[in-house]
Parts: sequence; structure tokens; C-alpha cells
Amino acid sequence: MAQYSSVAVLGTQWGDEGKGKLVDFLAEQADVVVRFAGGNNAGHTVVVGDDTYKLHLLPSGVLHPGKLCLLGNGVVVDPAALLLEIRGLEQRGGSAAGLRISDRAHLVMPWHQILDKAQEQAAGSNRIGTTGKGIGPSYVDKHARTGLRAGDLLEPEILIERIRQILPRVNAVLTGVYRLSPLDEQVIMERFIEYGQALRPYICDTISLLRDCLAAGQRVLFEGAQATFLDIDYGTYPYVTSSHPTAGGICTGAGVGPHHVGHITGVVKAYTTRVGEGPFPTELFDATGELIREGGQEYGTTTGRARRCGWLDLAMVRYSAWLNSLDSIALTRLDVLDKLPKIRVCTGYLLHGRPISHYPSSLHELSQIEPVYREMPGWQSSTGDCRSWEQLPVAARDYVEMIAQTVGVPVTMVSVGPRREQTIVRQSCFAEN
Ligand code: IMP
Repeated sequence: MAQYSSVAVLGTQWGDEGKGKLVDFLAEQADVVVRFAGGNNAGHTVVVGDDTYKLHLLPSGVLHPGKLCLLGNGVVVDPAALLLEIRGLEQRGGSAAGLRISDRAHLVMPWHQILDKAQEQAAGSNRIGTTGKGIGPSYVDKHARTGLRAGDLLEPEILIERIRQILPRVNAVLTGVYRLSPLDEQVIMERFIEYGQALRPYICDTISLLRDCLAAGQRVLFEGAQATFLDIDYGTYPYVTSSHPTAGGICTGAGVGPHHVGHITGVVKAYTTRVGEGPFPTELFDATGELIREGGQEYGTTTGRARRCGWLDLAMVRYSAWLNSLDSIALTRLDVLDKLPKIRVCTGYLLHGRPISHYPSSLHELSQIEPVYREMPGWQSSTGDCRSWEQLPVAARDYVEMIAQTVGVPVTMVSVGPRREQTIVRQSCFAEN
């Protein structure tokens, strides 16, 4: 397996695969950590010693002093949420000194959050189940070319002018369509001028910064947020997020060409979860689903919502492996399956009784597919203390190898608990020095 000076960590399912822990683990070996998509809809839980950090917008590299942490142009930044996170970190003795925000990153404005929630409420049973953070509406404005960017915070006169242009249209929608109160122009202007002052030290051209880091041979970690099946194009549309959390999103969201994305590792949880609405072919509605939810503490980091749980779906992971050119798989949360006597894995789908080799784009077709399951014996012993591949029970190793074979991608890391040391590395991703 080739090793590279840049590594990407991507979600292969519906998010919450445990990317935060892995990114934190790999950040130790990196010089630069880059987020390229999404916003504070993400939630990464990272356990460092006895401390648990819940990060939303800050790249996980901030927990390692001295790392450069970039929010690329593909990220949407809510300045209020970011400042809260920075201050929270500082209060715990940390520092965001290494943070840099792309001047091209779009802002999440107060009306984006209001619209997100109002649209969801109006949609009733057709709601997406968004995080309510204003992510979708911010990307809508980006693509409608009516958005505000982080760089605008550095030029207060332009900022004021842009808010003055945009707000009447926003208020017309808030009052006319949703019967909500209009937003006060003056209040918003003052607040955003303050955000600009607070965030000024962090905002810059991250594209040339990243170019120079790569040219100097620094090690770069591209930190995925959300996941392949939440991708606006490849996910289970419309139950998706509004960005590209897939490998292609690294290029457009961080400002690098594809040759600079070295090793790509896909994070696969040993089972499947989903928050929000939308199809879920291997969902469990029984006691096993409940056991997984409780064992894995499957509750949203960002919203606290209970996650829907089901068997591992390798039809999904195979699709992710292709879309993202996965070089390796990091398997997480294997320990959550420790108690199960039998484990089922979906190895493919049948549609109208026939095997299919594509992932259906139609929700109607997806509702008709039948997962094909393979049953494997559980190991029924604790794996949390295993520190090497050899220490894992044979049935657990068989489970891991079956995943690698079915997907056609080696499993090079196995995580057996939330702590940094509960990570079995079979092969490292970064090139050796
Ligand atoms: P939005 O990104 O807030 O617009 O939400 C769209 C969909 O993506 C909803 O189903 C959310 O629950 C889901 N989603 C967004 N971010 C995450 C994440 O970090 N983990 C898991 N699901 C997410």
C-alpha cells in the first residue's frame, strides 16, 4: 500500500462513523488539517485523556498544539458558532492560534438558520430532518450568487452594503411566506462588524497557504465531515446535506488538484446509523437495534437526536469505495458489537428479486430493494482492551476480513473504543519520514 504526504479521511455511510477520533489520531502525524465541506452541522467527538471535546466547525487538529488548521472555501462558516467554539476551547486551556479561514468561505447568516427551521416546519412529514444550523440555505445563497463570504468581514463598508442589498428580499420571504418577524438591519450590521473584528486574524487566502505547505513537503490531513450518503449528488436525495463530503469535494472545497490528494481512507462504522429522515435499507427496529444504540451511545453530537441503527450495509460501502477511490478502510466501533451472538451484514441488494450492481437514485426503488444478508458468528468477548490485530478474537478478525474482501479495500485501522490508544493500526497512511 502506497503512503503519502497527504491523507484524506472520509465518511462512507450517513455520517457519525467516528471520523473525529480518527482525524484526531492522524492529526498527530500531520502539519496541516483542512476541512473542505459542510459547516457546524458536523459534530466530532474527540476523547483526549479524561477530556471529551465536541467539535463542530473547528478542525480536530486544534487539539494538537502547533498544527495549522484550515477551513477551506467549501466550508460554510457561522461566525457566532465559530467564536463560541474558539472561546470554549480557550476556556479549557486550548488555543485556536493555528486556525485560518478561507476568505472565499461563505457565511451562515442569521436568516439562514431561521429559514432552515421554517422550511422544515412547513414541510411537515416531508421534512429532511436537518440539523437546523442554516447550512442548506447558506449553500443556496452561495450558488444563487447572493451569499456573503468570510472575506467580506474584512471590508466593513462592503459588508454593510451587501447586508443592505440582501436583507429586504430576506425579510420579504420571512414575513410574506413564513409569517415571521423581519430582521433588524442595524442589529445584524453591528453584530457582523464585531464578528469581523474578532475573526480578522484568522481570515486569509488559504489556497496559497495550502499550496505553500504542500510545496514545502508538509503533511496534510483532509478532514471529512458528513459522509458519502449525505452528498448532495451521491446521497439519498433529497435526504442529504447541501455540500460534497466526497473525495471530489476536497479539490473544490480546499483548492487543490486531484494529484495532491494522496491516500484516501474511508471510515466505516461496524454497523450503520442515520440521523434525520430518509431511506435506510438495513435499519433495525428490534431489541438488537436498541442494543446497538445504547452500546454505541448513538445520539447526535450536534442535535442530541437518537440515531437510527441497523446492520452494516456493504452495498453502500462498495459504492463509497468507488466514488471516493478509497485506498483503505478504517473500521470503527467494532467493540459495540462485542455482545452480539450473531451479526448480519448486507452484502448486496435485490430489486424485484434480481441482484443490482448500482445504487438506486430513486427513493421509490430504494424502498423496494431487499438487502441480501450474510450471517456471521459474534465473538461475545470484550475487544476494548485489544491493542494489536493478533489480540482481536478470531471471529472479530473474520468479520473485519470479510468486510475488506467484500468491498475490495484493505482494512488498515480498527477502532475498539473512543480513546486514542484504542486504535489498532495495521498499516499507517502517512509516508514514513
Ligand atoms: P443539514 O446538513 O443540517 O442540512 O442536514 C441534512 C441531513 O444531513 C440531515 O439528515 C442531517 O441529520 C444530516 N447531517 C448533517 N450533518 C451531519 C453529520 O455530521 N452527521 C450525521 N448526519 C448529518
